[in-house]
Amino acid sequence: MSVAEFLSSDDPFARRISQRMAVVEDRLREQTRVDDVVADPVTSHLADAGGKRLRPLLTLLAAELGPNPDSSHVIDAAVVMELTHLASLYHDDVMDEAPMRRGVPTAQYIFGNSSAIMAGDVLFSRASKIVAGLGQKAIYMHANAFERLCMGQLHEIVGPREGEDPIEHHVAVLSGKTGSLIAAAAHHGVMAAGGSDEISHKLEQFGERIGVAFQIADDVIDLSDDELTGKTAGTDLLEGVPTYPTLLLNKREAEGELDAAGAEILAALRQGNLDEGDRLAAVVAALREHDVVAETRDVARSWVDDALTYLVGLDDYPVYDYLVAFAHGMVERMY
Ligand code: IPE
Ligand code: IPE
Ligand code: MG
Ligand code: MG
Repeated sequence: MSVAEFLSSDDPFARRISQRMAVVEDRLREQTRVDDVVADPVTSHLADAGGKRLRPLLTLLAAELGPNPDSSHVIDAAVVMELTHLASLYHDDVMDEAPMRRGVPTAQYIFGNSSAIMAGDVLFSRASKIVAGLGQKAIYMHANAFERLCMGQLHEIVGPREGEDPIEHHVAVLSGKTGSLIAAAAHHGVMAAGGSDEISHKLEQFGERIGVAFQIADDVIDLSDDELTGKTAGTDLLEGVPTYPTLLLNKREAEGELDAAGAEILAALRQGNLDEGDRLAAVVAALREHDVVAETRDVARSWVDDALTYLVGLDDYPVYDYLVAFAHGMVERMY
């Protein structure tokens, strides 16, 4: 079930979560505004453009495993998660030179790198101010998740160390840059609702794994149509960012098992200049047809299966089925 489907379904549970998401949305819009006519269009740009709001939704769902899911702390935690995510996206789009996100031109494309970086920092500061009201443990967890996220981004830039397996390195990068915040979204939700340490831990592990699955799926999504994803197809390939399918091609090559179609894709990627003519579109199309994409999908699904093992024992909670559906939804978007 997609998030949109979930929020529009009319069973009483989904309606209640959807009403709380509306509260989160209002708070979020308020928190991305600044009292400055020059800066405000930059800080509010990305939240206003839309987005799936997966992290705050996960926080609300996880909170259903605690005794006080209606606590105002839960709303605060959900807003913190999306603000932090937004901050990371502003910075990521500068790093990746991405022209489009959420179906609109990116902040760096419209306002320039410096403004986009500062807007991301303002949003992170706003998140920090809200998390300050959630207690010391929450402050530590939030800072720790953001450190892991930044380290994931850094390791992506630096690449594997000599002798390090490139696929293992890639998975560690994905855990850091994406698993960290999705794990935190789940963990903060349980905690803000007064849930037990044991359940917080389970949800954190669950979140980490669906986060990795989600980011592996994102490597497939980089090959999808712009209209479906709101992002420009082939952005990772153009920027030379390693993705799961291209790493599988490299691995097959190293093992002497690469077919001719795969060899052609690697040759095109290595030649570079993909922004000339229709070279990028041709590589995207060829890669989409290659079976490394099917293998990537299977890997993503296996991370979801692993994540679900952390929900064992929680099936008496009404939210259980929604968490399972949420986990599957993380990889269903691989078109
Ligand atoms: C994009 O995240 C960045 C990744 C970690 C893959 P989302 O796919 O959740 O982006 P929005 O929030 O819906 O725009
Ligand atoms: C985004 O990673 C991760 C963070 C923002 C921390 P990507 O660069 O792979 O995601 P997209 O494809 O731009 O959304
Ligand atoms: Mg990016
Ligand atoms: Mg990136």
